[in-house]
Amino acid sequence: MSQQLALLGGRPVRERPFTSWPIFGEREEARVLGALRSGRWGRLDGKEVSEFEERFAAMHGCQYGIAIVNGTVSLRLGLMAAGLEAGSEVIVPPYTFFSTASAVIEANMVPVFADVDLATFNLDPRAVEAAITPRTRAIIPVHFAGQVADMDAIMAIARKHDLLVIEDAAHAHGASSKSGPVGSLSQLASFSFQSSKNLTCGEGGLLTTNDAKLAAECRSLHNCGRIPTGVWYEHHLISGNYRLGELQGALLNAQLERLDEQTKTRDANGQYLARRLKDLPGIHPQQRPDFCTRNAYHLFMLRIDGREFGAPRAAIIEALRAEGVPCSPGYGFSLPQQPMFRNRAFGPYLPGIAEGLDYQQARYPNSDLLCQEQALWLEQAMFLGPREDIDDTYRAFEKVHENRTALAEWSRR
Ligand SMILES: Cc1ncc(COP(=O)(O)O)c(C=O)c1O
Repeated sequence: MSQQLALLGGRPVRERPFTSWPIFGEREEARVLGALRSGRWGRLDGKEVSEFEERFAAMHGCQYGIAIVNGTVSLRLGLMAAGLEAGSEVIVPPYTFFSTASAVIEANMVPVFADVDLATFNLDPRAVEAAITPRTRAIIPVHFAGQVADMDAIMAIARKHDLLVIEDAAHAHGASSKSGPVGSLSQLASFSFQSSKNLTCGEGGLLTTNDAKLAAECRSLHNCGRIPTGVWYEHHLISGNYRLGELQGALLNAQLERLDEQTKTRDANGQYLARRLKDLPGIHPQQRPDFCTRNAYHLFMLRIDGREFGAPRAAIIEALRAEGVPCSPGYGFSLPQQPMFRNRAFGPYLPGIAEGLDYQQARYPNSDLLCQEQALWLEQAMFLGPREDIDDTYRAFEKVHENRTALAEWSRR
């Protein structure tokens, strides 16, 4: 007889917390203090941000890196840098954070959704192909949860239709495929350093590229339309000040020392948990395609088929939490179902175009299924601990499954 669920009064599998985030120490203190004491706090005064840009871009197979205030603005500037006309259609997944699509609208372009694949949770290239119209100009694949999107297939579609591709790599620092590191797999890529991310300075973003012209355009766009040969009060483009500050640059330089080791640990632990979980009925961890050589595991994401498992997702999540394993169902609905899209609350953007858009007709069954019934997320920091942490996590899933009948009964009450 298996032990009683903690939710029903039994002893939890896990009574200690998992690794907390962020991780920092003397290295970060010294570097940030150095930047503070230098008195050079702005990007144009010091060397921290420029050093970070070079190091981060090089780690991701790129010649150019442009640090930006956050990963939402970097996506928008990437779209603007490419010089796409207002009203261009940009294909994005419906299963992603708001910014992947909101950045498109804030660049005065039209997000067009293409469904994700139920095995990898990434943009399905067949859905991308089906979403192309004469107005399509760009695709934004997201390396969701840190798993590399099918970039070879997406780039082949882009070449065929002459489209720009911007990787949304907000979850994928240090991830790679057989074709190279994320960030270098298309014309441009956008990263985020917001608090929860695998590399963080609280708030921050960065664009990578190997295209000198795009790099110059992004640099100008993030610096009030200035150009390298211009004088200080000379502005060539409509834009704003989106520069990252030196204190954040200093923190990122120190954190970057940890990234490679942390990414290896997350990848090893993530693969280990996926191997252990895959034989539990109804549990389907994100699949790793053959081309993936490193998953950044910003999230360990899986699908729960409640019928196969024998209890519904909401109850399983409650039970896992009670066992000491923090987890969440993730997004509550696909992006087109967000009030912003339902109400076309696009502010001053897309004049003359917004009224003709209707995001309520099309359906994205895979994304809807993940949101409404099946997705479960475990956060990245849990994967930085020792193997016993992963064994405890597995044991919690196993215990919940062993007690599925009692759990299903509890959930019906
Ligand atoms: C997939 C994705 N894209 C873009 C962003 C935006 O990044 P930021 O929060 O730095 O603006 C996020 C952040 O959560 C994200 O998860």
